[in-house]
Amino acid sequence: GPTVVDSVTALRAQVRDWRRAGLRVAMVPTMGALHEGHVSLVRIALERAERCVVSIFVNPTQFAPTEDLDKYPRQLARDLDRLRDAGAHLAFTPRVSEMYPAGFATKISVGGPSGGLETDFRPSFFDGVATVVAKLFMQAAPDCAVFGEKDYQQLCVVRRLCRDLDLPVEIVGAPTVRDAHGLAMSSRNAYLGEAEIEIARKLNVILRQTAEELATGADETKATGDAAKALIEAGFQKVDYVTARQAMTLAPWQRDRNGRLLAAAWLGTTRLIDNVEILPG
Ligand code: PAJ
Repeated sequence: GPTVVDSVTALRAQVRDWRRAGLRVAMVPTMGALHEGHVSLVRIALERAERCVVSIFVNPTQFAPTEDLDKYPRQLARDLDRLRDAGAHLAFTPRVSEMYPAGFATKISVGGPSGGLETDFRPSFFDGVATVVAKLFMQAAPDCAVFGEKDYQQLCVVRRLCRDLDLPVEIVGAPTVRDAHGLAMSSRNAYLGEAEIEIARKLNVILRQTAEELATGADETKATGDAAKALIEAGFQKVDYVTARQAMTLAPWQRDRNGRLLAAAWLGTTRLIDNVEILPG
């Protein structure tokens, strides 16, 4: 299985040895509770590099006080089994005190693509993500890093972070892994009961339908409003947003460009997100 290290020093020493041997290094940052989606990122990483580091760290700075930090699933032994099967070489599993020692006082705040969407509902979420991803990149100094399109706005924010801070890490976006019903795999799906899973599976269906309507000329406000209504009718309790944006910049959607339809909605106490491509009309 993968070598497990929990200190930045040990992580750096291993990566330095690989570099000296001329090996390319890819990184896959995660919060653990690994599923097929995470495993697919490791596979893509190994197509691009000879060595793959996976970080497993439930990052407290990206959780608001009201969110699920304490109940977020933690299952390191199972995660390490999955990483062994996927062929990852190194698991970096720092404690909170290793990443955020007493007195830690810095944060990275990315503008641009972080505007709106998640930020309207989780105002300091991307500060937490950008800060921990920047730290992980400086600790591991990978050649490339793989992020899932599942968290589409996060992928855009991380690309912007690297560009703006000249971090020499190539960011690779990976397609969303879904179950047979199109439900995007997520560690938070573990919170859902059987009846809720059935409802959750309607999210991707409604998004794909709406993206198709937008691509074929539907009015943006009406189509996204109808999608939000359809989610409520399907059994979601609350819809945070259903929004069309430009695919690259996340600027307001334009019909003649590649677009992305993004949504977040609540099923009981669980918040689900998903997104699909909108083809230019
Ligand atoms: P986490 O939710 O564990 O996700 C880790 C990576 O797996 C992210 O890049 C995410 O987009 C990707 N991923 C999750 N579900 C996926 C799916 N169904 N298909 C493809 N990829 C999927 O995202 C985070 O952790 C954190 O914010 C992190 C970047 C690690 C910073 O703490």
